[in-house]
Amino acid sequence: MPDKTKKTVSTDPGNREDKVNVTRRKFIRAGMGAAGVAYAAALGYPVYRYLADPAEKAAAQAAETEKELVGADTLPQGSAMIFRFGGQPALLIHHEDGSWVSFSAVCTHLACTVEFQKKEKRIHCACHGGTYDMYTGKNISGPPPKPLTPFKVEVLDGKVKIARA
Ligand code: FES
Repeated sequence: MPDKTKKTVSTDPGNREDKVNVTRRKFIRAGMGAAGVAYAAALGYPVYRYLADPAEKAAAQAAETEKELVGADTLPQGSAMIFRFGGQPALLIHHEDGSWVSFSAVCTHLACTVEFQKKEKRIHCACHGGTYDMYTGKNISGPPPKPLTPFKVEVLDGKVKIARA
């Protein structure tokens, strides 16, 4: 009956070399694995930054609560301009009577960008014909279910300051 507790130790030098080779092979494999991980990280990080930046930028823009529009005080009466506020288009109108108003330019129906129409004396959405009051932003006709979001406007020292109401 063979003794199972007895270990066989090889004294064959070729066998020892095999063990050394296996260890070397493991070491090289581990090294290549680590190099592969480092290479993937080096390639992946810029891709991650590229993809993550718009989301970070959008979050930062959405958090914007006020903005100065330098030179916008020269906007002629009876005209309007579109600018970006909180990552979204916004509308600034300088009315004929000298008053200023500002609204989100995002239609409350399906989010098309609205425009000021001086002749028709309204804010209009070309997508489905929605109209809004040019002084209050209230939805007047068409599919928009609610008024445009109003912003505060302050004109001071050559600057127009827009802030969330
Ligand atoms: S998106 Fe403006 S009316 Fe439909």
